[in-house]
Amino acid sequence: MTKAKVIGMGHYLPDRVVTNFDLEKVMDTSDQWIKERTGISERRFFDPEKDTVANMAARASLSALEQSGIDIKDIEFIVFATITPDYFFPGSGVLLQRELGLEGIGALDIRNACSGFIYALSVAEQYVKTNTYKNILVVGAEIQSSALEMNDRGRSVSVIFADGAGALILQATDDSDNQGLLSTHLHADGRFAEELFVRDPGSSRKERLTKDMIDDVGIRAHMNGNMVFKHAVVKFQEVIHEALEANQLEIDDIDLLIPHQANLRINQFVQKQLGLGDDQVFNNIMYCGNTTAASIPIAMSEAWDEGKLKAKDLLCIAAFGSGFTWASALIKF
Ligand code: UT7
Repeated sequence: MTKAKVIGMGHYLPDRVVTNFDLEKVMDTSDQWIKERTGISERRFFDPEKDTVANMAARASLSALEQSGIDIKDIEFIVFATITPDYFFPGSGVLLQRELGLEGIGALDIRNACSGFIYALSVAEQYVKTNTYKNILVVGAEIQSSALEMNDRGRSVSVIFADGAGALILQATDDSDNQGLLSTHLHADGRFAEELFVRDPGSSRKERLTKDMIDDVGIRAHMNGNMVFKHAVVKFQEVIHEALEANQLEIDDIDLLIPHQANLRINQFVQKQLGLGDDQVFNNIMYCGNTTAASIPIAMSEAWDEGKLKAKDLLCIAAFGSGFTWASALIKF
């Protein structure tokens, strides 16, 4: 049976480093509060003169391609997860395709926020398993900083989110090399849609965007942080156990867990509940912040570069976020 294996990973972080001390200058917050509540010390913000969601994604994709060793023309399909596209439409998938000079191949956009990358991976996996495409580029990229309200009103959201891009190449393989995606598990509960959302501009109101919507913070992310936190710590564990049970595996079989990077406290709580050691969980939120759909592929690429994710390892990735949506996957390297 055909399976999908990861043959290359890459990431791109914008050059501009924004520390907690930089945020202290523009809002009523402190390095101590941000570190204690979120684990974040610094994050990267894009450069409007240089970075777009699509070109950051392209830089991450080119690194992944280089690692994979395949020719760029061997890419047959793109799945692009982002909730911060360059345009209202079309999606950034086609812009990435243009950046890479891959005119003609399909480009699909995924909008499942923090779980978006695992949703994207799952979609790509189905195309590989059904022998539709052999090599697929799967990307998560976000520019969150241009929508953050850098003042006291926006502080509970603004101190968390950040920009970046990550990519991987999925390739078809037969079962013989014992590598690849073992399974993906996707969930959603739309009853909580408005607990973490950006309302405007939306299509179902008389006018899509008005001055009131801007003044009234409709264009900013609204997050019921406590509620998101409480659901996240439960759903992370559930969906990780679900993946293990589906493959008759135990928690000890996991060599590395890469959780979505939303809050270090969430990840540490989940690690403790699962009984995983410090070397079994990879976090980079301390210096990357929360890059939504980009956080998992950035972390995967960094973990590989740092030798913390290696050949033959069993990797578990898991995410929770807006929707609510949550998801997991097990990948044998
Ligand atoms: O990736 C998408 C998924 N998102 C998440 O998973 C996020 C989950 N939630 C969280 O990470 C946390 O809820 C936050 C980090 C957003 C907030 O932490 P918290 O411990 O839940 O704080 P809180 O919202 O309960 O606020 C505690 C206090 C409040 O003051 P009072 O009412 O106790 O006087 C806030 O006004 O902290 C205040 N506060 C801040 N103080 C300094 C809120 N934001 C800030 C800030 N700096 N940036």
